[in-house]
This record gives sequence, C-alpha cells and structure tokens, in this order.
Amino acid sequence: MRLFLFFTIFISIIFSSCKKEEIPTSIEPLQVQETYQSIRKIIEINCINCHFVSGSASFLDLTSYINVKTYLDGNNTFIDRLSSEDEFYRMPPNGNLSEEEKNRLINWVNTGYLE
Ligand code: HEC
Repeated sequence: MRLFLFFTIFISIIFSSCKKEEIPTSIEPLQVQETYQSIRKIIEINCINCHFVSGSASFLDLTSYINVKTYLDGNNTFIDRLSSEDEFYRMPPNGNLSEEEKNRLINWVNTGYLE
C-alpha cells in the first residue's frame, strides 16, 4: 500500500512537471480610442503649417478641433488624402507621415473623431 501511494505521488509529480511550455504569442497592441487630444500633435506638426488662416491651404484651417470637426462633418477627402500614394493628392504633400501616424489619424476619424 505504501508503495502504491509512493508511486501515485511520484507519477503525479512527474506529470505535473511535464506541463507543456506555453509559447508566448505576440500581444496585439490594444486598440486605443484616439481623441483629438491624443492626435492633435500629429496635425500640428504635419498639417497646420499650410492649413492655417494665412497658410498656402488657408481654405481648410485645421488649427482647432471645431474646424477639423466641421470639415469632417461635411463631404470630405480626409482619409483619402491620408491614404493616397499620389504625390499630387496625398496629405501631407511630402509624404512625411509614418504609417503609424496615418493609421492613428484614420482610426480617430473612423471612430467618430471625438474631442
Ligand atoms: C505643404 C503644405 C501642406 C501640408 C503640410 C498639408 N497640406 Fe493639405 N492641402 C494643401 C494644399 C495646397 C491643398 C489644396 C490642393 C489640393 O487639393 O491638393 C490641400 C488640401 C487638403 C485637403 C482637401 C481639402 C478639400 O478640398 O476637401 C485635405 C483633407 C488636407 N489637405 C488635409 C491635410 C492633412 C490632414 C494634412 C496633415 C497630415 C495636410 N493636409 C498637410 C497643402 C498642405
């Protein structure tokens, strides 16, 4: 009986120590809810040097949330411009926006461009 008990314990120790190694799966970055506060730096650095009252693209002033929102509320090409590869159409014209910045802006617009 003792032997049996010993074996049972022994075997269960062996089995529990042979647990399969979990291979860590890469963790998807959490989809954060972007807000104007979180993306405004991207616009300030990349857009408003032209898109302000006396800039080369003054017809579309992007210097405040309300201005951007008013534009987005109407018919607009915001996402088209950001995702375009056409150097005569894309924004910013020099194409200096990183994929991450582009995606953050597009994500912000697609999730309702909250303030
Ligand atoms: C170097 C100056 C410059 C920069 C920087 C720039 N734009 Fe523009 N943008 C223009 C000009 C000029 C036009 C109008 C000519 C055209 O349609 O391409 C324009 C047009 C647009 C339009 C179309 C407006 C319409 O008619 O509906 C959008 C949207 C836009 N820009 C968004 C952006 C965004 C967002 C950024 C920053 C990521 C940006 N732009 C950066 C100069 C600029």
